[in-house]
Amino acid sequence: MAHRLEQLRDEALREIESATDEQALETTRVKYLGRSGSIASWGEQMKALAKEEKPVIGKLLNEVRNAVTAAIETRNAQFRLQQESGALAKIDISLPGTPHEIGSLHPLHQMHERAIQIFRRMGFAVAEGPDIETEWYCFDALNTPPDHPARNEQDTFYLSDGRLLRTHTSTVQIRAMESAQPPLRMIAPGAAYRRDELDATHSPQFHQIEGLYVDEDVSVADLKGELEFFLRELFGSGTEVQFRPHYFPFTEPSLEVYVRSKALKRGEQWIEVAGCGIVHPAVFEAVNKARGDKAYDPEKWTGYAFGLGMDRLAMILFEIPDVRLFAQNDLRFLRQFA
Ligand code: DAH
Repeated sequence: MAHRLEQLRDEALREIESATDEQALETTRVKYLGRSGSIASWGEQMKALAKEEKPVIGKLLNEVRNAVTAAIETRNAQFRLQQESGALAKIDISLPGTPHEIGSLHPLHQMHERAIQIFRRMGFAVAEGPDIETEWYCFDALNTPPDHPARNEQDTFYLSDGRLLRTHTSTVQIRAMESAQPPLRMIAPGAAYRRDELDATHSPQFHQIEGLYVDEDVSVADLKGELEFFLRELFGSGTEVQFRPHYFPFTEPSLEVYVRSKALKRGEQWIEVAGCGIVHPAVFEAVNKARGDKAYDPEKWTGYAFGLGMDRLAMILFEIPDVRLFAQNDLRFLRQFA
């Protein structure tokens, strides 16, 4: 009897070994280990055995069952391994991967970063204000009377509630002085809006960096020296800077700033890049009125202010011929600044 059991085991092991796939192996498993398989039927036959034979044959039957079970598991593992390495073999690891497109900073943003970096070295803090403003911040507080042409509906985007898209970043001068004591040295980068026809040099949305310095005894010499320093840091030490008299309601005197440099493509041409001037006492008075104190006493405090045209600066620095390129989102253009 023991001999027949051993035969059954050897036969099962041979069959497991020669199974060629998982399906064949499963058939073999059912044949030997299934509920009505050979090993189970041996269990039935045990009942008929003599008392002294039962433990011996029972033990052997257990060993046979364990051996067959183990052999099936081993063979199954072999099949799985074969499948996995078969799948891996189909991957050609020498092929190039899928390229990832990496974005880059917009040229206008790069321009802002360069400018802000220079101003920070000069001790300016960065301030911000909202794009949607009240007439008070955009005009009244900046000494710009109701009949001033800048307030005309033809020039300015008004909202139905009387607010407007700010026509310049000078609004942030007022906000900064309302919330901080003098002395003060700040810049405010941001967008501004005017009803301009879109063409190569005009856009209804454009960008400025506003600057404000308030201290005792601030003079036109401070203003000129610091703006010259800034523009030479930006465009190179050979850059010429020219100041021409102008008019702004919120400064007196007021100046326009022009640059020229042989290193730039536009060579001999003077290009206007900013407006500036000495803060008008009426602006300090408006701030005092809003604050309800005399913190910006025009008898004690003086200041200069400027507004730089950032689109213009970027066009000069990167030799960009058309302001519309900034907003068209054309990757052929943008990739040149990556
Ligand atoms: N806000 C003026 C503009 O947009 C530019 C400007 C001129 C700003 C003189 C100033 C300034 O701060 O002092 O045309």
